[in-house]
Amino acid sequence: MTGTVDVTTGALVARRPVGAYHALSIAAPAIAANAAPGQFVSVGVDAADTVLRRPFAIAGVDTGAGTIELVMAVVGAGTAWLASRPVSTPLDIVGPLGTSFVPPERPARCLLVGGGYGVAPLAWSASRLAAGGNAVELLNGARTASVLYPVAPRPGQVTIHEVTQDGSRGATGLVTDALRARLADHPGQHDGTPTVVHACGPMPMLVAVAGVCAAHDVACQVAVEEHMGCSIGVCMTCVVPTVAGNVRSCIDGPVLDAARIEWTSVLGRRSGPTARATSTNRGDHAGSGRP
Ligand SMILES: Cc1cc2nc3c(=O)[nH]c(=O)nc-3n(C[C@H](O)[C@H](O)[C@H](O)COP(=O)(O)OP(=O)(O)OC[C@H]3O[C@@H](n4cnc5c(N)ncnc54)[C@H](O)[C@@H]3O)c2cc1C
Ligand code: FES
Repeated sequence: MTGTVDVTTGALVARRPVGAYHALSIAAPAIAANAAPGQFVSVGVDAADTVLRRPFAIAGVDTGAGTIELVMAVVGAGTAWLASRPVSTPLDIVGPLGTSFVPPERPARCLLVGGGYGVAPLAWSASRLAAGGNAVELLNGARTASVLYPVAPRPGQVTIHEVTQDGSRGATGLVTDALRARLADHPGQHDGTPTVVHACGPMPMLVAVAGVCAAHDVACQVAVEEHMGCSIGVCMTCVVPTVAGNVRSCIDGPVLDAARIEWTSVLGRRSGPTARATSTNRGDHAGSGRP
């Protein structure tokens, strides 16, 4: 965790559909004031058979209004409960939790690679990076157009590339194909300007992104999305194997240096039916483990 963590009850201020997803705006001024892209909140749910809180990436903040925005896909009882709450419902929130994407130390070419709802926090990050003088490209990938996250126009110079596996919108292929093409045009160092990659999406996509970046010798940070129990470093549900041993993605992550993750172990434990169901639910790049 990188700063002050607030435990609060914030009212649901607004709820709206965003493509295939649900955007929730929640009053949480202290979290809005302290959050950075990549961090998440843990939300209490009161649905049947759900005991644990549910983690969600912070997709944006409005510090003036004192609100945070979450973007979620409904995949089970907890997300169905949250996505159907009436406005004004009090929600039990803890955050901001975890690590954030670290902006480049000097102006860089930032390639932000996302899949499904993983694009939402990257879109927030894109505006901040652009405002900081970076050249930002957002690679927005999904399996098909209906589950492509619709990125709202944002201030700043951000170029958006849409990619769908079935070609129903944007370029046809995997978001990693688009990444490869961008890196071919602009390798790791180009006229003294470094390229950095930030990625958020399902694990198979992150593996593929990490492979492409390693092949091009480009620095890459990924926001991993492991199942979580406590979200505060106690239960060890969320461990991710790295070259330095297991780390807890709730407090040492979720944003980690891709080059330090033992990707083979991560993929090995995700090769069962749960992993496939998860990828399909997110609507992004199921099974794309190829680098
Ligand atoms: C750091 C972090 C950030 C996240 N950010 C978002 C976000 O911005 N938007 C969003 O919609 N979801 C996000 N998730 C996933 C979200 O937490 C789960 O979808 C949610 O907890 C599922 O709860 P449920 O009760 O609806 O489903 P459950 O009944 O618990 O599970 C239904 C299905 O969802 C899968 N699932 C459950 N937890 C996860 C998880 N952590 N990662 C992947 N699949 C999971 C299960 O394997 C199962 O297939 C994030 C998870 C983490 C760890
Ligand atoms: S979720 Fe409990 S240690 Fe990370």
